[in-house]
Amino acid sequence: MTFHSMWAELLPIGRSSASGGYRRFAWTGADTECRAWFRQQAESRGLTYELDRNGNQWAWLGDPADGDAVVTGSHLDSVPDGGAFDGPLGVVSSFAALDELRARGAEFTKPLAIVNFGDEEGARFGLACVGSRLAAGRLTVEQAHRLTDADGITLPQAMERAGYDVGAIGPDPERLGRIGAFVELHVEQGRALDLSGDQVGIASAIWPHGRWRFDFRGEANHAGTTRLVDRHDPMLPYAETVLAARREARLAGAVATFGKIAVEPNGVNAIPSLVRGWLDSRAADQATLDTVVTGVEKAAREYADAQGVELDVVRESFTPVVEFEHALRDELARILGKERDAVLSVPVLGTGAGHDAGILSGTVPTAMLFVRNPTGVSHSPAEYAAEDDCVAGVTALADVLEGLACR
Ligand code: GLV
Ligand code: MN
Ligand code: MN
Repeated sequence: MTFHSMWAELLPIGRSSASGGYRRFAWTGADTECRAWFRQQAESRGLTYELDRNGNQWAWLGDPADGDAVVTGSHLDSVPDGGAFDGPLGVVSSFAALDELRARGAEFTKPLAIVNFGDEEGARFGLACVGSRLAAGRLTVEQAHRLTDADGITLPQAMERAGYDVGAIGPDPERLGRIGAFVELHVEQGRALDLSGDQVGIASAIWPHGRWRFDFRGEANHAGTTRLVDRHDPMLPYAETVLAARREARLAGAVATFGKIAVEPNGVNAIPSLVRGWLDSRAADQATLDTVVTGVEKAAREYADAQGVELDVVRESFTPVVEFEHALRDELARILGKERDAVLSVPVLGTGAGHDAGILSGTVPTAMLFVRNPTGVSHSPAEYAAEDDCVAGVTALADVLEGLACR
């Protein structure tokens, strides 16, 4: 099956006809369809299909027990109204790269696996990279049991409803111990490659990033009859905090976003009792990120006090800076440079986006390849990569896998 036909098969799954974006949330029907597609791709290639204890899917060529395996893959879930490429490009490219290696007659000296990590985006339960975090012991079973979606369904309940055994979730050191290298290919979520004129790049680092929940609690009251001076309206400090986040991020050279909000009782003619906003903030280094988040929280407290509103701030997740292993990164640059007759001809880029590769990097040697995104747009239906760039990504991934697993 070609890259093009695999891509075409996945395209309709979980796509909203209203927005044109994807709603492939963990353990929903769309996710199940994506998972069935993965399994079918694995089995049609004669790969050994495995579902691990945390719901991640694996397709093995060779015996995993031999160890020092070379693993590639990404995720198939999406953010709300996400694009087609973030995640699926890595999974489809992995199968296509294996096909290319087989066509080249490559002889594998190490086991090779393709993986689909579950719930990478955290769109449903609020925490990103749940599958890889659980496997790497970066999310405890107790914490996983407390994750709840907007309808009050917990993660284990959702997994159970989708037909999975949740009794076994937890750290999986034996499985991760078999991996000698993990390489994730991903659409770039910025325009560095477009600006440099390259189709493919290598990741250097992932910025530290986290999610903080701001709960502003005021007093519900009538929108028509309550005098302005008598109100404790949590929407006001929330709105001022959004502006403070923008200001703090701009001053620090970081980014900060309130992209999700919940309002109670959520009536047009009622002053809210609760405004809950989620801050996503990221910076090149830890000290800068701390400065931004501390500044936003301080401002939020002042605004809340001024309105007689209570504020609770909870850090819901945090991922420290990831510096991808230099030896593997340099090996990728050598392999790709050599193929193009110019060592280090491949750009090496940092990114503000989180990835399963970042989570695993503390446990196994990990690297990433990026494919050009001409607009830089991501987490949006407008996300795009040209097919010839995707095909160049497949060739680069095949070169890397051949260099790592066939020597
Ligand atoms: C995942 O894509 C993230 O960076 O939030
Ligand atoms: Mn994403
Ligand atoms: Mn992704």
